[in-house]
Amino acid sequence: MCGIIGYLGSHEAAPFLVEALKRLEYRGYDSAGIATVHDGALDRRRAVGKLVNLSDLLVHDPLPGKSGIGHTRWATHGEPSTRNAHPHRAGHVAVVHNGIIENFRQLRAELCELGAEIQTETDTETIALMVDHYVQQGDSPRAAVERILDRLEGAFALAFLFEDEEDLIIAARKGSPLAIGHGYGENYVGSDAIALAPLTDRITYLEEGDMAIVTRTSVEIRDSEGQLANREMHEIQKDRARVDKGGYKHFMAKEIAEQPQVISEAVGHYFGSSGHEIRLPSDQLDFTGLDRVVLVACGTAYYACLTAKYWIERLAGLPVEVDVASEFRYREPPIGENTLALFVSQSGETADTLAALRYCRDKARRIVAVVNVPESSIARESDVALPILAGTEIGVASTKAFSCQLTVLLTVAMEAARQRGRLSEERQADIVAALRGLPARINLALDFEEVTERVAHELAEARDVLFLGRGQMYPLALEGALKMKEISYIHAEAYASGELKHGPIALIDPNVPVVVMAPRDALFDKTVSNMQEVMARGGKVLLISDRKGIETAGDGIWRSVEMPEVDTLLAPILYAIPAQQLAYHTAVAKGTDVDQPRNLAKSVTVE
Ligand code: AGP
Repeated sequence: MCGIIGYLGSHEAAPFLVEALKRLEYRGYDSAGIATVHDGALDRRRAVGKLVNLSDLLVHDPLPGKSGIGHTRWATHGEPSTRNAHPHRAGHVAVVHNGIIENFRQLRAELCELGAEIQTETDTETIALMVDHYVQQGDSPRAAVERILDRLEGAFALAFLFEDEEDLIIAARKGSPLAIGHGYGENYVGSDAIALAPLTDRITYLEEGDMAIVTRTSVEIRDSEGQLANREMHEIQKDRARVDKGGYKHFMAKEIAEQPQVISEAVGHYFGSSGHEIRLPSDQLDFTGLDRVVLVACGTAYYACLTAKYWIERLAGLPVEVDVASEFRYREPPIGENTLALFVSQSGETADTLAALRYCRDKARRIVAVVNVPESSIARESDVALPILAGTEIGVASTKAFSCQLTVLLTVAMEAARQRGRLSEERQADIVAALRGLPARINLALDFEEVTERVAHELAEARDVLFLGRGQMYPLALEGALKMKEISYIHAEAYASGELKHGPIALIDPNVPVVVMAPRDALFDKTVSNMQEVMARGGKVLLISDRKGIETAGDGIWRSVEMPEVDTLLAPILYAIPAQQLAYHTAVAKGTDVDQPRNLAKSVTVE
């Protein structure tokens, strides 16, 4: 998604704006630009492609000024080009925008009748033109922005800069996140704490409908009713916003390797340093009177929810419904007062998931969020927000967040089972012991990276890859296919192993590798049968299992990746490692942009 930065400081703005935009690269983008006010004059520089192109432009054509705004664009309206890059400007006004304005065509038609000249295909230009029109009619910058905010439909995070206003940025949010950074004699605007980290760790998150009037020495926030709003200032831990590759070639490689540490932290947070007591706010998380749990998310987070369905139903005996957020609210599911609605989101800003949460507001008994950003919109709009403690995840392909989501969701399943009298003290102690031992097993799995790297170089030649899994491993097969698709661009599909003979087996041939995720659980023998069906038709099976599983499967296996033995309940978490590594090394072999795959964004804050 697009990234926004604004700077009102005592230094030249351009270097700070570009540095902050570099920290927003992880969100995905296709062009970038900045605008400043200098001696009253408003000017801008924009470039298509990577930020280095903007930096080069600024070397040859510097942009002076101590107040400025900047933007990385992920194209929604209009192709990636310099012309469509932000900031957009009209007369006295420059604006940067994250979101989609759904009524921009009506506004554009009105502007054309007023004689405005439309220069771009973007919805954002319409905002600049309309605000400049109001300023030309005599409105103050603040009044002009208030007028346009009343007219915009859709989602937006906006930052405005005005000619002759060297100490003013006006910011507003509705549906897309935006934060204010507090300096000393300086103030800033940014999409998130990561963007603002080089400037400050004192952050105020705007709420839905807020508008902020920012100068170097003041921040005035008005709510959607125009009333003064007192929003909390957060102190963001420095390391949370610190982002660097730490010697790895890609953020994704670093984040795969961080999983033993972050899972250990998550287990410590929810179970303490010893014993097996579950540390969840049971007063706010009452599972006893529920008749249903609804799990809603997108992408990888959705596959975490699909896995949790197996755990909650098996451990707690509670019916679970899982849905992708973009479908959920439009099918208008009945949500009763005995339903708990749980939303999983790494960023906490995914528009579809946030909209699904709002659909459940005032319907479900409890709204629970499992998020990686405690100050995010989804966290703030939930009754209970459970942190996954994965630390900042920069790679667009989610890795450590997925395994931490699973860890927290298993904890929730255990708490539900405990409250409903379905989890013995002994079994609870066993599972917690297995969770405490999981980081060590993940380290062992990480040590097999050479094997997955070697196999990945062969997978990189494939046109299609199939992933198979049974039971609680089926969602992981889906996740493995998504990882492969999104960073190597190889077409990959996942099926429940038992489904193969109902059609997909027609795809089997020596050019279609079949990755089978199969710990030696109760369904292993059936999975072996499915593998035999594949091999009997010339299919190449890559089996991911423990040593005995690989031995049992026999000699016909094309390739195998050995995993440490683990309590099979935790296998989806452990087996995520080879799935991630396979995708990563296949992508590296293919030379794709691993951390910022084409067309993708880290946080999809538009529907
Ligand atoms: C995961 O690798 C993808 N980048 C994507 O599917 C992601 O999981 C999805 O967009 C949901 O994002 P969220 O967890 O921030 O809501």
